[in-house]
Amino acid sequence: MVLYQVFLAAVVVGAFTLGPEMAEAVTMGPSLQKLTWHYYKVYNTCENAENFVRHQVETFYKNDKSITPKLLRLLYSDCFVSGCDASILLEGPNSERMAQQNRGLGAFVIIDKIKIVLEQRCPGVVSCADILNLATRDAVHLAGAPSYPVFTGRRDGLMSDRRTVDLPLPSISWEEAMAYFQSRGLSVLDMATLLGSHSMGRTHCSYVVDRLYNFNKTGKPNPTISKSFLSEMAKQCPSRARKGQTEPLVYLNPDSGSSHNFTSSYYSRILSNKSVLEVDQQLLYNDATKQISKEFSESFEDFRKSFALSMSKMGAINVLTKNEGEIRRDCRRRN
Ligand SMILES: *[C@@H]1O[C@H](CO)[C@@H](O)[C@H](O)[C@H]1NC(C)=O
Ligand SMILES: *[C@@H]1O[C@H](CO)[C@@H](O)[C@H](O)[C@H]1NC(C)=O
Ligand SMILES: *[C@@H]1O[C@H](CO)[C@@H](O)[C@H](O)[C@H]1NC(C)=O
Repeated sequence: MVLYQVFLAAVVVGAFTLGPEMAEAVTMGPSLQKLTWHYYKVYNTCENAENFVRHQVETFYKNDKSITPKLLRLLYSDCFVSGCDASILLEGPNSERMAQQNRGLGAFVIIDKIKIVLEQRCPGVVSCADILNLATRDAVHLAGAPSYPVFTGRRDGLMSDRRTVDLPLPSISWEEAMAYFQSRGLSVLDMATLLGSHSMGRTHCSYVVDRLYNFNKTGKPNPTISKSFLSEMAKQCPSRARKGQTEPLVYLNPDSGSSHNFTSSYYSRILSNKSVLEVDQQLLYNDATKQISKEFSESFEDFRKSFALSMSKMGAINVLTKNEGEIRRDCRRRN
């Protein structure tokens, strides 16, 4: 993964030999260039901000491994809709978090706790958007991903509107998914890599039952699903939920299960037709994403490196900097 090495080399040069202006200039991509590696240290506004975040994430993680998939989903839901501006954290009857696609989002309390700590140490300085990016990085690292550089200096958005939430359903076709990622400046490699977040976490059966019982309105299962896996899934997700029962949850990657660890087994499962979601299995039906899935299933290191790079790119989508937005004092409310 040559790209990643270039990227890291640029980061390292920026940190150790150049001042803040140059550190900004050597980073990658137009949007990433607006951010700075170790912004709060470089500008001397909250030298230990990243340590404070990491400490809190470690404390939460000890009690609950599921914070990793929850933070990943929260970050994705924030960045893909109106950019990484923490708009997903704002409360209100018409805010993004009230959109149907964002039902079941968690980890808000983790961000709140980290924000309280940072407001005590460095009042009014560290944005909620940066906290979300840093906390997610630390949580995926604890789960087995590399600790990639998170560029900081984001500011928090002033608006959050549920009508802007265009997150696709997990039954989306490959073409639609690709168009969606491309509209955010991400590539086919980024898409195949970021979907690897489904290496952990859980989903509702309602997102799976179509492919188990009524694929493409045929009244039959998707014929490509492995037979053994199909009967396993059918047990966990009955064709219709029994009366009065809450809708069951299933692991997105049964191999990782309740350990919620970060592995490349997500890609091996795609190759053996054992993906839980249709969007995951579709990576097999395009030559480019099939090749990427093969590469990642064979080399965990390649997946880890690509993940670091794609997460950095996702974290830079439409960021607010300089005098845009604000630094919220409470992540759930505008100042
Ligand atoms: C779904 O059904 C339509 C109409 O029968 C067909 O054209 C299309 O190829 C099918 N899609 C898949 C993914 O099988
Ligand atoms: C991930 O968790 C599964 C299930 O607990 C376990 O079998 C596997 O060894 C773990 N992998 C790593 C890399 O920790
Ligand atoms: C997965 O499904 C595809 C398409 O139906 C098939 O060509 C392939 O052989 C299957 N792979 C495995 C490991 O069963």
